[in-house]
Amino acid sequence: MSGACNYEESIAQLSVNIPDLILLDMNMPGIDGLEFLDILRYTPRFKHIPVMMVSADHDPERIKETFRRGAMDFIHKPYDPEELDLRIQRTLNLIRQAAVRAVAPAEDLSSQQLMIQSLADLAGTRDNETGQHLLRMEKYVEILAVQAFKSPRYRNDIEPLFAETVTSLARLHDIGKVSIPDHILHKPGRLTPEEFEVMKTHTTKGAETIVRLQESFPAYHYLSTARDIILHHHERWDGAGYPAGLSGNGIPLSARIVAIADVFDAITMKRVYKPAQTIIEAFVLLNDERGTHFDPDLVDLFLSVSREITEIHTQYRDS
Ligand SMILES: [Fe+2]
Ligand SMILES: [Fe+2]
Repeated sequence: MSGACNYEESIAQLSVNIPDLILLDMNMPGIDGLEFLDILRYTPRFKHIPVMMVSADHDPERIKETFRRGAMDFIHKPYDPEELDLRIQRTLNLIRQAAVRAVAPAEDLSSQQLMIQSLADLAGTRDNETGQHLLRMEKYVEILAVQAFKSPRYRNDIEPLFAETVTSLARLHDIGKVSIPDHILHKPGRLTPEEFEVMKTHTTKGAETIVRLQESFPAYHYLSTARDIILHHHERWDGAGYPAGLSGNGIPLSARIVAIADVFDAITMKRVYKPAQTIIEAFVLLNDERGTHFDPDLVDLFLSVSREITEIHTQYRDS
C-alpha cells in the first residue's frame, strides 16, 4: 500500500505502479477528486483501476456524481478503519468475481465485434465512401461522445459505456446503402428529387436489417443503439430531417452525435459535384447550422475540441 498527498505525486506513483485499488480523497490540494476521477477514467492505462472516494462531504448530489463518474464506493469521513478494510476487501472480491465471469462473455464480446465488423464490411463493398471517412468519423464520434459524457447537459441520458458503444457502431450508419440501386448510389452528380427519395430509404432499410438481428440476438443490447444511429442519423434538430422528422431531444443522442461527425467530415471531402472544403469552412458551416440542423449544445462541445478534431483530420487525410 502506498500513499500520495497530491495530484502530481499520485500520477508519479501511477506511472511506475498500477495499484489494485485507489482510495481517493474528494478534497485534494490543487485538483478536485471528481476531476481526478475523470482523468483516471479517460486514461486507457488507468481506467480499469477501481476507485473508492473518501470525503467528509455529505452532499447527496456530490455523492451521486461520484458514482456517475465511475467510483466503486463512497466512504464518509470520519470512517471506522475496520469497516474501511472490509469495504476494500468486498470491492476487490467483487472485481475478482466479475473477472472470472468475464471469461465466458469474452467470447460473446468478440462475436459482437465480429458482427459489427461483418456488417460494416458488407456495406463497404458497395458504398463509395472511403474507409478514411469512416475512420475519421469514428474518431470524431469518440471525441464528441466523451465530451457529452463529461457534460452535465447530457449526464442523465448517458450510460457508463455510452462513448465506447456509439464509437464502435458509428461505422454502421450507412449500411442500408447496400439496398440502394447502383445508378443512384454511384451517380456522378446530384440526385433528382425522385432519386433522393430512394436514397433516403437507406435509413429504414438499414434499420430493418438490425431489427431482424435483434429478433435473433435479443441479448445484444447494443443493437438498439445501432438501430437508433442507422435510422436517425439524417434527422435534424428542427424536425426537417428524415425518415421520422424527429426533432430536438426526441432524436436519440447517439444519432445526434453521429450526424455531426458524418456531415462535418462529408463537408471536407471531395465529391464529383463539389470540391473539398477546408476544415475551417466545415467548422463555420457546423456553427451556422447550430440549432437548425444540429443539436446546439453538441455543436458547442464539438467546437470546444476543434484542435483535436483538426489533428484527426490532418492525421487521416485522404491520400
Ligand atoms: Fe446516411
Ligand atoms: Fe457517412
